[in-house]
Amino acid sequence: MSSGKCSGHLASKRITVRARRLTFQLVRSTILPQHEFRRGWADAGRIMVSVLEIQNLHVSYWWREGVPRPALAGVSLSLLPGEILGVLGESGSGKSTLAAAVVRLLPPNGHITGGAILFEGKDLLRSKPEELRQIRGARIALIFQEPSLALHPTMRAGEQVRQVLAAHGSPGKRALNERTRQVFAAVFPEEADRLSQSYPHQLSGGQRQRVLIAQAIACRPCVIIADEPTASLDPTTQMEILGLFRTLREKLGLAMIFITHNPALLVGFADRVLVLYGGRVVEWGPAATVLGSPRHPYTKALFQSIPQSFDESESRRKAKLPAIAGDSSLSSLPREGCCFEPRCAERMAICRGREPALVNVSETHKVSCYKYES
Ligand SMILES: Nc1ncnc2c1ncn2[C@@H]1O[C@H](COP(=O)(O)OP(=O)(O)OP(=O)(O)O)[C@@H](O)[C@H]1O
Ligand code: SF4
Ligand SMILES: [Mg+2]
Repeated sequence: MSSGKCSGHLASKRITVRARRLTFQLVRSTILPQHEFRRGWADAGRIMVSVLEIQNLHVSYWWREGVPRPALAGVSLSLLPGEILGVLGESGSGKSTLAAAVVRLLPPNGHITGGAILFEGKDLLRSKPEELRQIRGARIALIFQEPSLALHPTMRAGEQVRQVLAAHGSPGKRALNERTRQVFAAVFPEEADRLSQSYPHQLSGGQRQRVLIAQAIACRPCVIIADEPTASLDPTTQMEILGLFRTLREKLGLAMIFITHNPALLVGFADRVLVLYGGRVVEWGPAATVLGSPRHPYTKALFQSIPQSFDESESRRKAKLPAIAGDSSLSSLPREGCCFEPRCAERMAICRGREPALVNVSETHKVSCYKYES
């Protein structure tokens, strides 16, 4: 992971032996996965502290009939400086709700009903509207799911980036133009000037996505939350955008929550992966472990239902992909027990009892399933 400006003032500091011991206990118990902790500890007394931490977050949407429907039910996660955290889940699992809740941009009928969102030592759920306005875009940037809806259709791309900069301070016209030019050059190494003069309809999907990324990095944020930023792009352009994110992470020291329904995109890209199902974390751990040896029955089924690589045998490629049977909508989730129980191929009688806890199956890998509870 890189050490950018965020990690500079948030992540690392020298501490005395006594303070180290106290911090050890605190960090070990509440913030860091063990492998990150050990690495930080071994690094000449420098420890890594989460740049963003979500604790037991509950979000519900109120429908016309006045009944709240929970979309997130107790989601917790931590994001380390410079880390790429992949959030994986099928449609309706609560990925966009999570993204919008962090920056407090839920639709009017969406309400956070519990939990905490800690950023730079503050709980964003207790922040005043003006504080939130300053954090949004400038310190935490959100890239929306659909680039064609997120851009203004009649405004040149460069102007859209310039307006983001202007909204977070007015350094003067010349400085504003220069910063816009720099930001454009970072996302469009070639033809930055021409593309900044283009309207969204004159850009390809990949180029529009780059304009959104330019808006996101314009104010040098600490954290970027990218909600399915490559969903509408072809595989080559998807890889280009992932490459751009990697470069920006290295250069700017950004931490990123990368939301997707496609596990293949996270291979070799994410540091850790968190799997959401029915608004709950069902699996979480280092990317190589979760993607290479998934343990939760949902994660395993999810991976079996995606096409494998092109060098597979002809017969396997022609075989029908197994879909996960059953309905994943919120209304079909059971009221008690494991939320995946109605669709789980490995369910047991006990699974209808209480909800399984998120337990460690290794030092760094957590799963919420009765199969792993002792
Ligand atoms: N404005 C809303 N009003 C009521 N329910 C909503 C609203 N927005 C989302 N939901 C519900 O919340 C749940 C989670 O939705 P969300 O958009 O977070 O899922 P998602 O994982 O991002 O899905 P996708 O992959 O399709 O984007 C869904 O059941 C959805 O129907
Ligand atoms: S708790 Fe039971 S139903 Fe839920 S995923 Fe595990 S085995 Fe399947
Ligand atoms: Mg979504």
